[in-house]
Amino acid sequence: MCGIVGYVGKRSAAEILLNGLEKLEYRGYDSAGIAVFTGSEINVKKEKGRLVNLVDALKENPLDGNTGIGHTRWATHGAPSVKNSHPHCSMTGKFAVVHNGIIENFEELRTNLKNKGYVFASETDTEVIPHLIDSCYKDNGGDFFKAVSQAIVQLEGSFALGILCQDEEDKIIAVRKDSPLIVGLGEGENYIASDIPAILSETRDVYLLSDLEIAVITKDSVKLFDLEGNPVSKEVFKVTFSENAAQKGGFEHFMLKEIHEQPEAAANTLRGRLDSSLKLHFAEMDSAVMGKIKKIHIVACGTAYHAGLVGKRAIEQLAKIPVSVELASEFRYNCPLIDEETLVIVISQSGETADTLASMRMAKSLNVPVLAITNVVGSTVSREADFVFYTYAGPEISVASTKAYTTQLVALFLFAIFAAESKKVVPQAEIDKVKTELLNIPEKLSQTLATEDAIKELSKKVFKEQNMYYLGRGLDFSTAMEGSLKLKEISYIHSEAFAGGELKHGPIALIENNTVVVAISSDGDLCAKMASNIKEVLSRGAFVIAFVNDATKATHEDCNEQIVVPTLLPLIAPLASIVPLQLFAYYVAKERGYDIDKPRNLAKSVTVE
Ligand code: G6P
Repeated sequence: MCGIVGYVGKRSAAEILLNGLEKLEYRGYDSAGIAVFTGSEINVKKEKGRLVNLVDALKENPLDGNTGIGHTRWATHGAPSVKNSHPHCSMTGKFAVVHNGIIENFEELRTNLKNKGYVFASETDTEVIPHLIDSCYKDNGGDFFKAVSQAIVQLEGSFALGILCQDEEDKIIAVRKDSPLIVGLGEGENYIASDIPAILSETRDVYLLSDLEIAVITKDSVKLFDLEGNPVSKEVFKVTFSENAAQKGGFEHFMLKEIHEQPEAAANTLRGRLDSSLKLHFAEMDSAVMGKIKKIHIVACGTAYHAGLVGKRAIEQLAKIPVSVELASEFRYNCPLIDEETLVIVISQSGETADTLASMRMAKSLNVPVLAITNVVGSTVSREADFVFYTYAGPEISVASTKAYTTQLVALFLFAIFAAESKKVVPQAEIDKVKTELLNIPEKLSQTLATEDAIKELSKKVFKEQNMYYLGRGLDFSTAMEGSLKLKEISYIHSEAFAGGELKHGPIALIENNTVVVAISSDGDLCAKMASNIKEVLSRGAFVIAFVNDATKATHEDCNEQIVVPTLLPLIAPLASIVPLQLFAYYVAKERGYDIDKPRNLAKSVTVE
């Protein structure tokens, strides 16, 4: 999604803005621009496409100055183009604005502004903002702060804004509502950004802005106010993760780096929560609250939704609480049967996904307790949920999610154990088996990475395919869905996942000579059934790649290829099964020569509906 960076200080603003925007490239974008004070004038440069286009344009016509705002845009209203890219300016050029989010009442505002004589230069919703601020500025005798505070209360929807005013050379005003924005604190220089990695090379001290807090930023001070102009005090948040953690660390792509980080990330999720004597410390929630829960809804999008499917099994098996798993974009418009004995668990790597936030807010408005499982400290879900479980996977930069998924699974297993121990409905010995297995997970995940070379070779055989189908039963079906999503996201190969038992109800019609079928079989109890499904496709000419373990491999010797992963308890097995599928998607995409970390049309953090 769009990225914002702002700088006010003594160095070249353009350079810092471009550096910051580069760090935000992972969010997905289709155009970029900056506005810089050159002398007492605001000058804007924008380009369509990759950031490098803007860098080249600025080499030819530099913007020299020490205060500026920058933006990478992911189109929502109006096609990707120079005129639709940010920053947007008011008609006279007095105000320049960068915006993340969507202004829902922009049409009504645009009509009003047009009636006042404002002329619009773009098709965006954003452009109403600089004109509206300009109009409020005139109404308030040229008061920048009042103009911004009066304008933003008229905006419906979500926004993170960085604003420059031509009359106040050394100042940025920043404000957010339902879209992330932070202020970075330096010495004689300050920053704004939509995400920490953008300014991590500059500072580790940040303010995490809350909704409708207005930051007035100059090189020597950052002052926070509420809408009425009353000062707001806030603690400085110290960023603890290393800059290296936000960089590629020697890997060719963030995705590969993040796949390799999974053992460590899982260890971080477990750290302090499950000790070697098998004692669980689930401090995130009170077991008295858990004791009252009779039903759970897990709500999430994309990969996090797939994690939820595995979580359902774990909770139902260990705690005997019925769980439904729902896509946040559906849940928010359904009429879920929820009451105070229901727990809603939202899962979101970023903690900013619009549909997940809306679902959480809907649940909260019905007085239902909400537990958030998220990776981003200080994210909106973490601030609004009743209980928060951080996965501590470290920043995930690649659009295709990997370590976020495995750590979400670990989080859900820990939650299932917590629920089980609160409910006491299954023998402790069964829970302890899961705990013991979880403690070994970092090591087992390292072992799964040993499949990498074999997968690299395998991907060379199949990367030209146009379709691939994934098959699994039980938890392997959830893994198949996630594996299939990874493949389509980054290799653009059409792919679908089917439950083995559903083959005969339609999908088998798709199988012809050499159709690639990826079969996942990790459960000794289900592998005979999977073997029948595999035979059905083999006999119709499919090329079957089986992802198996020591418990199942003998049953699947008739497959064209086998990749063997460590054997785990069937409940935990998705943790091991997914890693080679992530690697498979990665190497297939690499063979096809695609931009793996920034797949077309996709965004890391989907902060609009
Ligand atoms: C986008 C990302 C996916 C992610 C999904 C949910 O679609 O590309 O990788 O799974 O959003 O994101 P969240 O941050 O809520 O987990």
